[in-house]
Amino acid sequence: MLKTKIAVFVSGGGTNLQALIDAQQNGSLSSGEIALVVASNPQAYALTRAAEHGIPSAVVVRREFPSQTAYEETLKEVLAEYGIEMIVLAGFMSILSENFTSAYPKRIINIHPSLIPSFCGKGYYGLKVHEAALAYGVKVTGATVHFVNEIPDGGEILLQKAVEVKEGDTPEALQRRVMEEAEWILLPKATEQVARDLQKGK
Ligand code: GAR
Repeated sequence: MLKTKIAVFVSGGGTNLQALIDAQQNGSLSSGEIALVVASNPQAYALTRAAEHGIPSAVVVRREFPSQTAYEETLKEVLAEYGIEMIVLAGFMSILSENFTSAYPKRIINIHPSLIPSFCGKGYYGLKVHEAALAYGVKVTGATVHFVNEIPDGGEILLQKAVEVKEGDTPEALQRRVMEEAEWILLPKATEQVARDLQKGK
């Protein structure tokens, strides 16, 4: 059966992209193939990871376009060029409007570094999520993979995993534990699930 063609959207270090590449190499991600990496900025280290594994990449920078619509039309064109059927947001920090998300219903997933509905929505991204969790004093946090719709972090939940907060945690230490114990496990698993379902529908 033909594999579902996946684009991974990134903005930074790309450790979640790396987890997907590793899953593809060890066979746990087998229903889909990473056909393209899209970066929101040219400095993203994730681009180096893509290049090292021979995965094509594109850089599409929001501020280089006069409007959100023009930006998203270009994104759609790039995706169409590569025949992309599914999108994984893996630490992607640019906003996507309903104009974009509605073009790929149940075909975009996102990893968020908390247990949604805690510490999510506008303004909660990257380290800020862990700073907020520590400031609140929660004893358990985690990660969530969900479908993406027009509501920030509001789409249907696919997978969640809890992670313990430890005495004396810094935001960086907590971020690392959430990545190791939850994100890098959940994201490849959810990607395989959705890729498999899309493959069946072909
Ligand atoms: C990850 O912790 C991811 O969950 C988070 O950004 C980090 C990216 O790391 N995403 C969000 O906060 C989205 N709202 P990575 O570039 O090493 O994968």
